[in-house]
Amino acid sequence: MSQTSLLLEGRGLSKAFPIEGGVFRHQVGSVQALRDVSFRISKGETLAVVGGSGCGKSTLARIISGLLPPDAGTLQWDGQSMAGWRRLDRARRIQMIFQDPFASLNPKLSIGTQLREVVRLAGATAAEERGRCEQLLKSVGLSGDALSHYPFQFSGGQRQRIAIARALAMKPALLIADEPLSALDVTIQAHILELLKELKKTYALTVLFISHDLAVVDSFADRVIVLQNGGVVEEGPVDTLLSCPRHAHTRALLDAVPRIPD
Ligand SMILES: Nc1ncnc2c1ncn2[C@@H]1O[C@H](COP(=O)(O)OP(=O)(O)OP(=O)(O)O)[C@@H](O)[C@H]1O
Ligand SMILES: [Mg+2]
Repeated sequence: MSQTSLLLEGRGLSKAFPIEGGVFRHQVGSVQALRDVSFRISKGETLAVVGGSGCGKSTLARIISGLLPPDAGTLQWDGQSMAGWRRLDRARRIQMIFQDPFASLNPKLSIGTQLREVVRLAGATAAEERGRCEQLLKSVGLSGDALSHYPFQFSGGQRQRIAIARALAMKPALLIADEPLSALDVTIQAHILELLKELKKTYALTVLFISHDLAVVDSFADRVIVLQNGGVVEEGPVDTLLSCPRHAHTRALLDAVPRIPD
């Protein structure tokens, strides 16, 4: 069954960042952002990564997407090491969306220019480009008119839709979403979450979903890993983990969720 076949496996991933101080910015220490983190994501699965601020979620996402090299540990894609992958090898398989959609959109270029660039990289011919860009925008609920506009002309939710379209242009198997809703208004969050659910089905996406919001994780993820101080403290299927958390940190995260009375 495709649901159970392994897509990505991380083993023993660690990363430390230097802390600099003084006028000459000497290294005065280091922060261990990730310590010995291992995880597995099956094809078609949505794995949520949760944990308090600074626990290493974005560091893990950046390592997987190739934006950051790990100090130690390995990544395997479909059973093969990712060590020798070039940027394009990764970009064709793994795409990322961010909390702030501005992080993935160039403010100086029109949406059309930015989408065409990626669509071309993904192998579209000049004749196919425009149609493909329009189709991508349609799949995220926007019209082709957006192509001639610039990022500042859109609302936060619309920008996130464009960032998602741009990520999908490479036809990735894995979408990493690093807090994609937290910069948006609550009603817009619900729309973007619905869109992600729909796209997950349409494009048979595997998703690594980073979130503070356990209510969202509950409705979107299949499995969860909980990070604390850079290490995995608990993992399991979303239902079990949220209904019977074993680790004190998971319980604390759950206690922080505002409850809607039954
Ligand atoms: N480029 C960097 N240089 C120095 N320290 C960093 C860097 N990136 C992250 N860190 C530190 O590593 C730790 C983990 O950071 P990371 O951004 O991965 O956490 P996070 O779980 O994504 O937090 P948040 O929920 O606030 O987004 C933090 O202590 C952070 O300050
Ligand atoms: Mg983060």
